[in-house]
Amino acid sequence: MATERTFSIIKPDATRRNLTGAVTAKLEEAGLRVVASKRLQLSKEQAEGFYAVHKERPFFNDLVSFMISGPVVVQVLEGENAVLKNREVMGATNPANAEPGTIRKEFAESIEANSVHGSDSLENAAIEIAYFFKPEEIVG
Ligand code: PPS
Repeated sequence: MATERTFSIIKPDATRRNLTGAVTAKLEEAGLRVVASKRLQLSKEQAEGFYAVHKERPFFNDLVSFMISGPVVVQVLEGENAVLKNREVMGATNPANAEPGTIRKEFAESIEANSVHGSDSLENAAIEIAYFFKPEEIVG
């Protein structure tokens, strides 16, 4: 198995409800290590740039508005098969479809306010990590 790095965002619905620690605990319990972390208020431009791949989708404006509605915590997670492991512990995009024990099943409010983002591939993880972190900010 390969050690990988993936990118995670704890979304505004979770920071608003003081769930940063609870979400991070789930990630750590799954075997992921937080090797970089910062709390940010995203600008509209930052959120639009981050989600540019979704700009033609009907929910794009709602997604951007939600992501700038409060603070987020951006993190780099490291571990064996980190990309897939993170997606598993996050659970399905829509919490109604998420497996018991997953972050979204336990904490998410809706398909929009779904508490976490996680990279969907190793390639996107590298792009997303570089969007928010300088190499020297990541300490493995
Ligand atoms: S995924 O997880 O990327 O495969 O899911 P996808 O369905 O492609 O959704 C991409 C991101 O858009 C968010 N999303 C929505 N936001 C607001 N309203 C609606 N209806 C909606 N549907 C999907 C979803 O949470 C994904 O956000 P991220 O931050 O990438 O997890």
